[in-house]
Amino acid sequence: MAGRVTGKKAFITGAAQGLGAAIARALAAEGAKVALADINFAGAQKLATELNAQHGAEAAFAYELDVTDEGQWITALDAANAAMGGLSALVNNAGIAGDKGGVEALEFAHFKRIMSVNVDSVFLGAKYAIKYLAQNQPGSIVNISSIAGLIASWNTPAYNASKAAVWLLSKNIALYCAKKGLDIRSNSIHPTFIDTPILDPLRAAVGKDEAEAKLARQVPLGRIGKPEDVAMAALYLVSDESRFVTGAEIKVDGGISAM
Ligand SMILES: NC(=O)c1ccc[n+]([C@@H]2O[C@H](COP(=O)([O-])OP(=O)(O)OC[C@H]3O[C@@H](n4cnc5c(N)ncnc54)[C@H](O)[C@@H]3O)[C@@H](O)[C@H]2O)c1
Repeated sequence: MAGRVTGKKAFITGAAQGLGAAIARALAAEGAKVALADINFAGAQKLATELNAQHGAEAAFAYELDVTDEGQWITALDAANAAMGGLSALVNNAGIAGDKGGVEALEFAHFKRIMSVNVDSVFLGAKYAIKYLAQNQPGSIVNISSIAGLIASWNTPAYNASKAAVWLLSKNIALYCAKKGLDIRSNSIHPTFIDTPILDPLRAAVGKDEAEAKLARQVPLGRIGKPEDVAMAALYLVSDESRFVTGAEIKVDGGISAM
């Protein structure tokens, strides 16, 4: 039986763990080929081996990519396009947090690093992937922003600014592709707290149970999310089920932004 994304070929950044790995697993389970790109190449290779064992050889490929490096983007996309026989989706997922302390305390270098990993990545990915996606229409660009791109906190200036930039950049890319007459959609996903290693610094600071309970208390549904909750939104956006959805944002936030 055909899966929801059979025939799709997706390039996923930050795919070695967390949300990127969950998105890769969900896409592969529904029939897509996946290119797993990460600065953690060993981690991407490990997941590729697992997915190939599960779904057959050449279901998954691994690439070393620092998403802030323009040259590496060009090389990795070219290699993935050749290996998978095309590219029909780009999932810009790689991102970092960790700018706690507020606007006065945050080092400028740290601010720039977070902006670069979270925003340059989306710009470079779209800049160099569109030409491949254009050869495999309908195409889809999925950008993992955050609820923190829509709602600010007092102590995360770089994360708030970077994720808000991803939100509008997604819309810009959507309108650019439409203007060019390309059937390439671009949308953003805005998760709240999800159970991935990105929460480890907080777990280390106050203990796992207390950290998760503290976060869960802020969510109307009363719990933090699972990586699969975000993967289901990405699966929908990569699939042709979302063929008329572009320039949109999907909030996977347990109701936080409804308050
Ligand atoms: N988990 C959450 O609570 C949450 C909530 C909202 C948004 N997000 C966003 O989801 C995305 C994934 O987060 P996660 O929770 O899976 O985090 P994570 O830390 O578990 O995984 C991030 C992955 O990105 C990779 N990465 C980091 N810097 C990179 C770089 N320069 N180049 C290439 N790869 C790089 C890491 O090696 C890692 O595999 C991020 O953009 C994050 O901001 C996460």
